[in-house]
Amino acid sequence: MQVEKTTLEQFLSTHLRKDLHQSGLHSITLQISKAVVSIAKMTSKGALAGVLGSLESQNVQGETQKKLDVLADEAFINALKQAGCVLGLASEENEQPLFLSTQGSDHGYLAVFDPLDGSSNIDVNVSVGSIFSVYAAPRERPASLQDFLRPGLEQLLAGYAVYGPATMLVISFGQGTHGFTLDPESARFFLTHPSMRVSEQSAEFAINTSNERFWEPPIHRYIDECKKGKTGGRAKDFNMRWVASMVADVHRILMRGGVFMYPRDTRDPSKPGRLRLMYEAKPMAMIIEQAGGLASTGRERLLELVPNNIHQRVPVVLGSKDEVERIGEYHADYDQEKA
Ligand code: AHG
Ligand code: MN
Ligand code: MN
Repeated sequence: MQVEKTTLEQFLSTHLRKDLHQSGLHSITLQISKAVVSIAKMTSKGALAGVLGSLESQNVQGETQKKLDVLADEAFINALKQAGCVLGLASEENEQPLFLSTQGSDHGYLAVFDPLDGSSNIDVNVSVGSIFSVYAAPRERPASLQDFLRPGLEQLLAGYAVYGPATMLVISFGQGTHGFTLDPESARFFLTHPSMRVSEQSAEFAINTSNERFWEPPIHRYIDECKKGKTGGRAKDFNMRWVASMVADVHRILMRGGVFMYPRDTRDPSKPGRLRLMYEAKPMAMIIEQAGGLASTGRERLLELVPNNIHQRVPVVLGSKDEVERIGEYHADYDQEKA
């Protein structure tokens, strides 16, 4: 007998309470899933859809925008407008948040997103993704930029979509991390990975080693040990993977453990890291912690950081608990020696 699979809609109806607050999150999630379906259609058609390649424009980070960065941004903005309860939107692709007015909804929300993560992989047909996070908006006054700058612990919803061989949507409302797979024929998501768990131990690391000469000593110490494998202090061999799409690297860690690092480096002293706190680090930190892993800067828990700017960058170390703890200890040892 074939067991009926749970659709995303059915999951939301049972997972979220029926109060107004949660019904807003219900419609936001469905709208995001629609944006994800439209982006998946574009990525899967690739060159046939005329969506590859770069534009002349740059985003606020000074990065040349890809066509798909902008198309995915539009898909997210249009979908979130349809939710009817989103009062503010902030995206990697736009310097300032966009504020919306909605009629008659008791609860308003703020959404933050990286519409297309891993842009450098688009033109070479390697997995890309989208990352998003949702907060409550103030009820008593119009939302402002300041209302976005809240610690990740206040996220009501966080998640990502990965456009890989299959398109998956992975979400958390603070009660576990759950994965859905898109059936491209029916354009519907089905719950395929309920209550995902990151294994506590692992022997796989992800880091861009071309930046090695810019790392701090605790990262050198950890990676040197991994590379020495059985012949070093850890007495076991490690494997390395680096897709260069944070979404794809984090998804692999959710599925089979490991540690992902984009640590602080000294390439550009004005930038404490490569990844952005609001729409890359914080949502992924919630997804990982809700699956039993840990997420830090090496020194602080990512979910506790209070941002001072929408596009702020931050060092990221996340994944299997034992490895993230060990890397935290190496940072503490180093800071103590220095002091
Ligand atoms: P984005 O495409 O949204 O700018 O993000 C790319 C990020 C992230 O996905 C990835 O982990 C990292 O940049 C890749 O960095 P390298 O270019 O150093 O590999
Ligand atoms: Mn990104
Ligand atoms: Mn991006």
